[in-house]
Amino acid sequence: MEFKNITAEEAAALIEDGECLGFSGFTAAGSPKVVPGAIAKKAMAEHAAGRNFKVDVYTGASTSSMADGVLAAANAVGHRYPYQSCPAQRKRINASECNYADMHLSVMPQIVRYGFLRKPRTAIIEVSAITPEGELTLTTAGGNSPTYCEVADRIIIELNTYHKPELVKMHDIYMPLDPPNRQPLEITSPDGRIGCCTLKVDPSKIIGIVASHSPDGIAAFKAGNATTDKIGDNVVAFLEKEYAEGRIPEGFLPMQSGVGNIANAVLAAIGRSKTIPAVSMYTEVIQDSVISLMKEGRCKFASGCSLTVSDGQLSEMYDNLDFYLDKVILRPQEISNNPEISRRLGLICMNTAIEVDIFGNVNSTHFYGTTMMNGLGGSGDFARSGYLTIFCCPSVAKGGAISSIVPMVSHTDHTEHDVDVIVTENGVADLRGLSPRERAECIINNCCGDDYSAKLRDYLKLTPVGHTPHCLPKSFAMHSAFLATGDMRNADFSSIDA
Ligand code: COA
Repeated sequence: MEFKNITAEEAAALIEDGECLGFSGFTAAGSPKVVPGAIAKKAMAEHAAGRNFKVDVYTGASTSSMADGVLAAANAVGHRYPYQSCPAQRKRINASECNYADMHLSVMPQIVRYGFLRKPRTAIIEVSAITPEGELTLTTAGGNSPTYCEVADRIIIELNTYHKPELVKMHDIYMPLDPPNRQPLEITSPDGRIGCCTLKVDPSKIIGIVASHSPDGIAAFKAGNATTDKIGDNVVAFLEKEYAEGRIPEGFLPMQSGVGNIANAVLAAIGRSKTIPAVSMYTEVIQDSVISLMKEGRCKFASGCSLTVSDGQLSEMYDNLDFYLDKVILRPQEISNNPEISRRLGLICMNTAIEVDIFGNVNSTHFYGTTMMNGLGGSGDFARSGYLTIFCCPSVAKGGAISSIVPMVSHTDHTEHDVDVIVTENGVADLRGLSPRERAECIINNCCGDDYSAKLRDYLKLTPVGHTPHCLPKSFAMHSAFLATGDMRNADFSSIDA
């Protein structure tokens, strides 16, 4: 079949107000680069003419300034699922100008297929190659492209010639059947393959091919600082002890690592370990730090949903593709983040918290219970199903005015039942098998910032009885003190009434 070449503006002209769009990619990796910008321009023109224009945007995860950024700037997004990390979009969400539902990333494709969410009418999919029969080579991410292409009525292709068609060898695309026909996912090691290298779509749905030539636009992560380095060292010291004492089997277990600066610092510390052998990753996002470990021979293999590496790193990989092609697999997110596989492989899961309470509940998403940061992403997919679930965070934020360890989290993403270990720059709280009172002791003694340990002990004294010694009138006193005075250290736990 011969496909029609169209411009981004011609593609945007086909999109109507209220339409639901499904984007390829996962993070900035593999997300569309040019059609969203043209849709944003159309939205601004419609708004200027006094007409409504908003679309619902379904993605794999976050995107980039070329997708979320431009659409948020144009106030062109009605509903946004399942994750974002874009400053402009975050502002719209927190101003209630965009309806955002924060979801576990592994479930997004299946709930679209189940019909729990409106089905996207148009899928906008970045590829590095396409055949006349409609076989797509995705670029740097698996994301939700298989599902969006299956359920959408029409597909707009962005053919991005910056990306290498050889990426085809990295992909393993598989879409499970839905219940009651779903079969076991027979991946028994991170390098297991169960699918196809290309994504086969119905060619009659392809309404146009838009040309682009652009890397993913990912900046290198900031270098670690003394706090993130110490967190990394603490995680490694804990894992080395677990390994030495036989609670991690010979040869080690595959690892999952979250997003952000702490995740990078932890992986760098693993690279420096003298006793942890070269690792395998079964993770969501493959960041620069994983590639660095690979080059040092400290990571044998990485399975993920996206190659979220900086533009410089990607260019190096494209220059040396032969080295990487048999060391990386990219999968759709319902496979990369699948709890069945995570439980089977026995993943060591390391994610980042915004705040943690003294009983081990984790908030990964909200400030002061109200303000959305990014979303929980895949952290919950892995936390519940991992072999060992570790959450890391600095003990304090904003120069010490905020304690990351609080009496009660102001929003709960991961409950105490899913959290094994908390790590800050001050130490490691191993919560396995501990009761709530023991957990509180352990977290305060090992993880808390110096200015806050006496205060949190005072909080515990307010309720001398009960299984979980919460004092409800005071459980958010630290948050309230921050909101009222700009400093959590002003919270008063001297009595219930104070
Ligand atoms: N209250 C208020 N602000 C806080 C805070 C708290 N308790 N704790 C941290 N902050 C602020 C910090 O001060 C910082 O803001 P600043 O730069 O303006 O000072 C910001 O929150 C976090 O900084 P950032 O550099 O973005 O941290 P990070 O790169 O380590 O990311 C998360 C941390 C939690 C935001 C990030 O890991 C995330 O979004 N996680 C959820 C999704 C996830 O885990 N995905 C992976 C699953 S596979």
